[in-house]
Amino acid sequence: MLQGARRRIDLLLGRKTEFAPPTHPEAAGAQALRDELTRWHAGSVDRYARVFLAGKPLLVTRQERALFARLAAHGLVERLGPSIYQPCVRLFPLYGRFIATDLLSHSTPDQVFSLMFEQLYLVRNMGVHEGDRVLELCLGSGVNSLFAADAARAVTGIDINDRALAFARFNEALNPAAVPVERLEGSLYEPLAVGRVFDLIVVNPPFEFVPQGEEWFLHSDGGEDGLDVVRTLLADTPARLAPGGRFEIITWSPGTKLGPLLVDLMREALPGMRLLVHVLDVAPMDNHIQAFKRSPHYDAFRARLAKRGLDEVYFLFVHAAPGAPGVEVVTPEQEVETCRGLAAAWL
Ligand SMILES: C[S@@+](CC[C@H](N)C(=O)[O-])C[C@H]1O[C@@H](n2cnc3c(N)ncnc32)[C@H](O)[C@@H]1O
Repeated sequence: MLQGARRRIDLLLGRKTEFAPPTHPEAAGAQALRDELTRWHAGSVDRYARVFLAGKPLLVTRQERALFARLAAHGLVERLGPSIYQPCVRLFPLYGRFIATDLLSHSTPDQVFSLMFEQLYLVRNMGVHEGDRVLELCLGSGVNSLFAADAARAVTGIDINDRALAFARFNEALNPAAVPVERLEGSLYEPLAVGRVFDLIVVNPPFEFVPQGEEWFLHSDGGEDGLDVVRTLLADTPARLAPGGRFEIITWSPGTKLGPLLVDLMREALPGMRLLVHVLDVAPMDNHIQAFKRSPHYDAFRARLAKRGLDEVYFLFVHAAPGAPGVEVVTPEQEVETCRGLAAAWL
């Protein structure tokens, strides 16, 4: 697998692949660091991309030395030689913010998820209303919560992975939000007090289809049909929505030619809500599960999905709001194109 190959190259070259989460700057330092990063990114797009998106070491120039010393002090880079630094994180520039995640070479299950199409799509399409109390389940790097906080009255983020929470804390320190994000550790709604409700609940859950018996990243392990986490969270969602509350999810769902399983699950779990479904992509199941082709569990896994008639996968953003029960489907081609283009710069 690509990540495995990349890690083997790193190890062969004697490069470290695992680092502690970055340490957060104080308020005044954060502004200065962000300003310096902004200037460097604007003036050295390719050098920035080499180190913070491609994850490669950089021979820094005399002019860059002070910035790199500062980045090293926060654990964002590590010095390899007199003027050579390697990145300890990926650092995604996004609408004036810089969001840190793990390197792709971080190979343990607690890897903090990189920014991808789906984070961008949420940032651009979340339906946060002025004054909302927002809950983000599966917080990860915290990128979506930071953007939600621009309009919300309060934002809470929950993640089961303490490494993700450490990154989310760093990202908020580097990019202070309009309201502070409350971060809670635990599984889905579990850390919340009984009866606590929200105006908007947003989630980008782990959604890869992972064969039984494979150990996989916490950020992506959605069980064999990618919907394990979704089923659990949907069961408790109605009790966590305030009157008039909305729910939004972006995820891959298995399905048949007739449609995605996710929509059936949501109709069942959220009676009394109207679903607006954005279809972002559709692909044959076989293409989607290729990553596990070499797994000894692959054939049995594929057969189990086929037995259920699941031969298609759908990439969906679903917005659920109170209203006459029903489903409206849209294909936002222009928006998908825009997000694909922006996310391509991060690959
Ligand atoms: C797709 S990733 C992250 C998405 C996040 N929006 C981001 O931009 O980083 C999913 C996240 O769900 C977390 N997660 C997995 N199972 C969870 C659970 N049962 N409860 C809470 N978080 C969970 C993972 O640790 C991971 O951070």
